[in-house]
Amino acid sequence: MKLLILSLFALFLTVNGCLRIRWPEKCSPTDFSVFLLAYSNDLNFTEVRKLYQPFGEGISRQDVENRTAATVRFDTKTKEDIVFHEGETLSASYRASRDYIYEREVDPSQSFDSSETGSDVMDMLERFINSHHPNICGSFVLVLMKRSPNEVDISKLVRKIREYRILLGIAVQVPSSGGLHPETMYNLAAQTNGQCAFSQELGKAYFTLPHLWYPNAYYSLNLKVSGTGTMDLPPITFKENVTVHLEIAVQSSATAESFQSFTISWVNTQSGTTGSSTRTREQFNNGTFTSLNSFKILDFIDSEAATYELKLDYNYSSEDTILIRMNSKQPIDHWLPFQD
Ligand SMILES: *[C@@H]1O[C@H](CO)[C@@H](O)[C@H](O)[C@H]1NC(C)=O
Ligand SMILES: *[C@@H]1O[C@H](CO)[C@@H](O)[C@H](O)[C@H]1NC(C)=O
Ligand SMILES: *[C@@H]1O[C@H](CO)[C@@H](O)[C@H](O)[C@H]1NC(C)=O
Ligand SMILES: *[C@@H]1O[C@H](CO)[C@@H](O)[C@H](O)[C@H]1NC(C)=O
Ligand SMILES: *[C@@H]1O[C@H](CO)[C@@H](O)[C@H](O)[C@H]1NC(C)=O
Repeated sequence: MKLLILSLFALFLTVNGCLRIRWPEKCSPTDFSVFLLAYSNDLNFTEVRKLYQPFGEGISRQDVENRTAATVRFDTKTKEDIVFHEGETLSASYRASRDYIYEREVDPSQSFDSSETGSDVMDMLERFINSHHPNICGSFVLVLMKRSPNEVDISKLVRKIREYRILLGIAVQVPSSGGLHPETMYNLAAQTNGQCAFSQELGKAYFTLPHLWYPNAYYSLNLKVSGTGTMDLPPITFKENVTVHLEIAVQSSATAESFQSFTISWVNTQSGTTGSSTRTREQFNNGTFTSLNSFKILDFIDSEAATYELKLDYNYSSEDTILIRMNSKQPIDHWLPFQD
């Protein structure tokens, strides 16, 4: 009996002394999985189309190895099915997904009548996980939205997303078309190693998220910060040369005034090379890789098989939570731990 229990899960004592129970994983990061495009019926479809165009064109095996496409429109009076576009080839799957959404666009007659109605994004995510599709585990879900949820309790959904190792990239267009709690989406991303960005332009939010071309998570850290300070971050070790992109969200809403600036620096402990990137609040939403609360830094770190020490200098006028993520095109053989 003891053996059986031990073989079912392992107990972990983490550095801060919390006891963790780790259940066997449902899948590995390289297993075949799904890319879900989920978009709100409240959006201007022209903008959704602009973002999705590259997915349907010129998609090749190297771009989306091991991921089939699925689509769903949410925030509609009648709930719509999540459609898995199973094609002969992956490019056929992506072309079919594009044709499908281009045909349906958005349907104003299906819009919620009141701005007090919250987004049903959380219900949509639950339906995705409960769909019994065999490749849900390890999926990457791109959520494009405008209406906020009314819920604040995300514990049940967080458990499921973690169990199925689903990566969320959440782009929120502001101003919101309804709902009460935009921060719910930020918290959902924080607790599931995902990312959440706000902008008046959907594309600006989208371009600061992990991307289908490089979804594999190498680093994920949430930090509560306030005032000014310097912090040594946990180091990262690459077993082989790896190109990673840094996605960093610095505040939990589009309107917060707290974030002033950060500098993230690295040292390659083998070669001694160093580098750093600085961003300030004046740079919000100015350029391609920045939104109203986040930045992307392409080709962060010099990409060698080495251990890198990392340091963060920050300046906040009050408190907020930073989400630091590194993602790569190169597959990784393990999942990252989660943080609350
Ligand atoms: C795709 O699956 C194969 C076989 O499981 C695996 O070797 C490869 O690393 C996977 N590719 C990605 C990008 O995960
Ligand atoms: C939708 O977006 C397009 C391009 O950004 C813009 O030209 C158009 O006016 C917008 N439509 C509505 C209804 O806002
Ligand atoms: C945006 O950035 C450019 C280049 O750094 C700068 O010249 C410009 O003043 C900035 N715009 C705003 C509105 O801050
Ligand atoms: C890794 O990168 C270093 C420095 O750019 C290079 O010298 C080395 O050949 C690369 N190794 C592999 C296996 O590509
Ligand atoms: C933090 O940012 C504020 C506003 O930009 C600036 O006045 C202050 O000097 C900065 N503090 C530090 C320690 O850099």
